[in-house]
Amino acid sequence: MLNFDYSIPTKIFFGRNKIEVLAEQVKNYGSRVLLVYGGGSIKRSGLYGKIVDIFNKSEISFFELPGVEPNPRVTTVKKGVEICRENKIDIILAVGGGSTIDCAKVIAAGYYYDGDVWDIVVDPRKITKILPIATVLTLAATGSEMDAGAVITNLATSEKLGTGHKDMNPKFSILDPTYTFSVPANQTAAGTADIMSHIFEVYFSNTNSAFVQNRMAEALLKTCINYGKKAIDEPENYEARSNLMWTSSLAINGLLSYGKETEWSVHGMEHELSAFYDITHGVGLAILTPHWMEYALNDKTLNKFVEYGVNVWGLDASGDKYEIAHSAIKKTREFFVTLGIPSTLKEIGIGEEKLEKMANQATVRGNLGSFKPLEAEDVLNIYKASL
Ligand code: NZQ
Ligand code: ZN
Repeated sequence: MLNFDYSIPTKIFFGRNKIEVLAEQVKNYGSRVLLVYGGGSIKRSGLYGKIVDIFNKSEISFFELPGVEPNPRVTTVKKGVEICRENKIDIILAVGGGSTIDCAKVIAAGYYYDGDVWDIVVDPRKITKILPIATVLTLAATGSEMDAGAVITNLATSEKLGTGHKDMNPKFSILDPTYTFSVPANQTAAGTADIMSHIFEVYFSNTNSAFVQNRMAEALLKTCINYGKKAIDEPENYEARSNLMWTSSLAINGLLSYGKETEWSVHGMEHELSAFYDITHGVGLAILTPHWMEYALNDKTLNKFVEYGVNVWGLDASGDKYEIAHSAIKKTREFFVTLGIPSTLKEIGIGEEKLEKMANQATVRGNLGSFKPLEAEDVLNIYKASL
């Protein structure tokens, strides 16, 4: 196992009605809040009204930034920074999914940055200080509710980039699984694929000695497999929604990646698809993942795929190793299909035209991954196989 420093500072309030802690927790940071949310799902579900009531009863002043887009835009981040500066905001509350939370994180960092806020996305080292942020999560997917990263899109340059800072974790996050009852089937499916991808990105690693991290990763993968389809078939199944919600946070908060080399190559490839075609992140991941797995499978990586097939999919360990590996990859692909996710790029409107450009951009900062290092040509091959 490699050396690591453990720090997961976000306080989690998990379960039904946990919104009751909101006012008291906010007041630890001040009484002027910027409420950030998306395209209206929180108004339709009644959550917006509940939060406004809590603020009014607790003498908390709030300002609003509605309309954060899926794949949040840097232009929206800029609007948020202005509102914070004009109104001397003490804390930013993001209510929504990963896009809303990521937007809030970069507003919080942009508040203390004098130049163009896109600079701190391109170069996270320019982030010096961050306003406190907190979240009320409504979609189990990205883990942004408990991690220190954010992903922002610049439509003007067709770039979608991750940024982050050690102090960017939310101060607290309220995770009430009933808020995810209204998530539609396609977003539940994409969210489940995203959670699984976060686990794959750290599970498939050259570090073989992290036994405990690997067994935890397998448990989380099995949780997604057990509950992903159930949450789609029975949107108000609390057991399914609560297990997925907690798995979303645990998958990417550091617990699985500490002490390991990590990969993040499927994410690197997917971010280009989202940047150029504005697709749903989890859908892009689900399409690419089985093709990445086939591409990464070789004599050096074989045992890891066997471990995956046997421990996650329950395949017979005594069979031929390559058969086990291929069968595990097939099961992964079939699982995404049972969730109703498209399995080819063509189905989501992506053709050959920009594949080369995207492959070059995905590797512009260097090769992706180390378990299976990918150059631009490899990325292009994986895109082509996914067509
Ligand atoms: O905008 P609203 O109206 O709220 O609707 C959203 C949106 O249309 C809807 N939704 C959310 N909660 C709902 C709901 N609809 C009904 N009921 C609810 N309870 O779902 C749609 C998608 O929301 P979004 O926030 O975009 O989804 P997600 O949580 O998957 O976030 C995706 C973004 O996060 C980034 C992705 O790249 C993408 O930009 N990521 C962030 C990461 C991080 N910070 O660590 C890591 C991830 O790998 C990922 O890259
Ligand atoms: Zn992701």
